[in-house]
Amino acid sequence: MTTNTTEKAPTRTTTAASAETLTIVDNRTGREYQLKIANGTIRASDLRQIKVDPEDFGLMSYDPAFMNTASCSSQITFIDGDKGVLEYRGYAIEQLAEKSTFLEVAYLLINGELPSKEQFETWRWHITHHTMVHENIKSFMSGYHHDAHPMGMLMGTVAALSTFYPDAHNIFDPESRMLQTYRLIGKMPTLGAYAYRHALGLPFVYPDNDLSFAGNFLNMLFKMSELKYKPDPILERALDVLFILHADHEQNCSTNAVRAIGSSQPDPYSAIAGGIAALYGPLHGGANEAVLNMLRSIGSIRNIPDFIKRVKAGENLMMGFGHRVYKNYDPRARIVKANADAVFSVTGRNPLIDIALELERIALEDEYFIKRKLYPNVDFYSGIIYEAMKLPSEMFTVLFAIARTVGWMAQWLELVQDSEQKIARPRQVYTGPERRNYVPVSRRRGKAEPPPSVAGRRALRRSGGIGAQEAARVTQ
Ligand code: CMC
Repeated sequence: MTTNTTEKAPTRTTTAASAETLTIVDNRTGREYQLKIANGTIRASDLRQIKVDPEDFGLMSYDPAFMNTASCSSQITFIDGDKGVLEYRGYAIEQLAEKSTFLEVAYLLINGELPSKEQFETWRWHITHHTMVHENIKSFMSGYHHDAHPMGMLMGTVAALSTFYPDAHNIFDPESRMLQTYRLIGKMPTLGAYAYRHALGLPFVYPDNDLSFAGNFLNMLFKMSELKYKPDPILERALDVLFILHADHEQNCSTNAVRAIGSSQPDPYSAIAGGIAALYGPLHGGANEAVLNMLRSIGSIRNIPDFIKRVKAGENLMMGFGHRVYKNYDPRARIVKANADAVFSVTGRNPLIDIALELERIALEDEYFIKRKLYPNVDFYSGIIYEAMKLPSEMFTVLFAIARTVGWMAQWLELVQDSEQKIARPRQVYTGPERRNYVPVSRRRGKAEPPPSVAGRRALRRSGGIGAQEAARVTQ
């Protein structure tokens, strides 16, 4: 159990720290200020009293990418990045992954405590009875292009859910909030599976409420003509564990997006659609897809030294490595890696695991990675397991989104009820031109850029620069 070893970690709330203060001397004026320290932080707004004269706006902190700024207080997830510790509501991730289920962890994250047997049954009933989607959603999804990326489909469809549930705008009604929570957690696997089946041109499969959360997802992905789909128990458990590991991760990029959008008080579907957009990127959830592409492009163990050389020269990133918070082995990556063999016992060994293991071995002994504290993160091994389960790499981030919806909703619920929160609106340091006079177009100088040729626009389309519809118009 890791809890005792982390009690003094700087980010964990301690009441003893609240009496501390920070003395600042402004060398511009010689004035001295006392700022309160609480929970290892000073209030950025306390800096505003530090002025050179009464007209001065006051001192701000400058923190691009929030490298050292806490934007909220939260009781959901604790990470000690230096020690490689992750806890949900005080429970170590290792214990939850070993002993719990995704639906139980979801209850814990949303409600703050593990459920009693009765509480769990009611919770399970609510989630499973919200797995169906309106039939119009099926027609809506059928409208996507056949090669649309499933994350794009998921993002668009979750945003569209807000039009199906106008009651979701009642965000200050606790009952409505809980109803949207059931709906979102319940429907995400259905939408994810629909995106997958749409890409293959296969009919959508309805949810089967007799199955577990992970089992039903496998059913909706893979059921063909059999009357009842029976998930393999090893794969079902492996997927459930992967969902547990991805359920929350405090103020990551997508959660920050959900909170920022949620702070202007739209319905939660709109906020979660924003979270999916943020997760999509290769530096965040999209890394699991990018890892697979990287391993495939390396192709063989003998190409690894050359690949590492290119990473060290700054030509490539080692996808699935590094983390803003973890400066130690990501505890989730360790659990994913340990589960790989169980999956391979059913699916057969994914040969990419050998490249990944060797890549990790070499990287962990290399000065470049050691100096920068770069370790495998959760995305390094998860894609290899998903691929062994016969999922295409475009679906990997969808699986991440299904699990993370629980964390997003827990964080959104916390945000909505947090009296300290207001609309998220950072400041900036303006570095643009001074005020100047408008110049009429006849007096402006500047070389005209010719519009791109048809061939150029075709090349743009191939590189994903313009959409298929626009390209069709251009080439007509
Ligand atoms: N490969 C090679 N070098 C790296 C990597 C990497 N994956 N990650 C960081 N570095 C280097 C980086 O170039 C920099 O070097 P230098 O000091 O010489 O400029 C140093 O390490 C510090 O990196 P950083 O970019 O300042 O770190 P960050 O906290 O801004 O970025 C990160 C964190 C996760 C975006 C980054 O490590 C990365 O791009 N990793 C690859 C993508 C990835 O695996 N993302 C998944 C993250 S975990 C799950 C999730 O969030 O979804």
